[in-house]
Amino acid sequence: MTIIDPIFGAGMLPALKQFVMATKLHPILVNFTAALVPVSLASDCIGRFIKSESFRHTAWWTLFYATAITPFTAITGWLFWMSDDNGATGMTIHKWLGSGLAVLLFVLFIWRWKLRRQARWATTSYLLVAAIFVVALAYQGHLGGEQVFSSM
Ligand code: HEM
Repeated sequence: MTIIDPIFGAGMLPALKQFVMATKLHPILVNFTAALVPVSLASDCIGRFIKSESFRHTAWWTLFYATAITPFTAITGWLFWMSDDNGATGMTIHKWLGSGLAVLLFVLFIWRWKLRRQARWATTSYLLVAAIFVVALAYQGHLGGEQVFSSM
């Protein structure tokens, strides 16, 4: 019996793992997280610089979709875990950094949501924190890609 059996029923976890392995869902979903968050930040920067409402809305909606998708990116990462990932330092960082980023993105989303409700431009402190998030996200992608492609 696994920890999620009382929630999903026995056998659900192996079935989910098999589905994620067969569809390679994690490498698919990472593209959405990795694209939407930087696009949101860039749109907020441009929007604030040229005072464009359209860019400001783009920043909000791309962050909205990133926040909706990223929990699935993280969950499929856990389900995509393979035996050769065990003991690889980069993958240990990847596992915990990725899980942390999914939670932090939600915090960033709440912050951005409050700015949107007040119809304000993204503040300098928000842009700085979002920029740090994007750097961490790039490092996260680098670690995942290194594990996949370094053995090729
Ligand atoms: C923000 C969240 C995350 C991002 C952006 C991300 C990004 C990536 C990227 C870019 C790859 C390479 C994919 C490819 O091109 O084939 C990858 C692979 C992988 N990621 Fe993540 N990841 C995230 C979260 C996680 C989490 C939470 C785990 C949990 C353990 C995880 C486990 C894996 C595994 C197992 C692989 C494949 C490694 C292998 O082939 O041995 N990822 N990830």
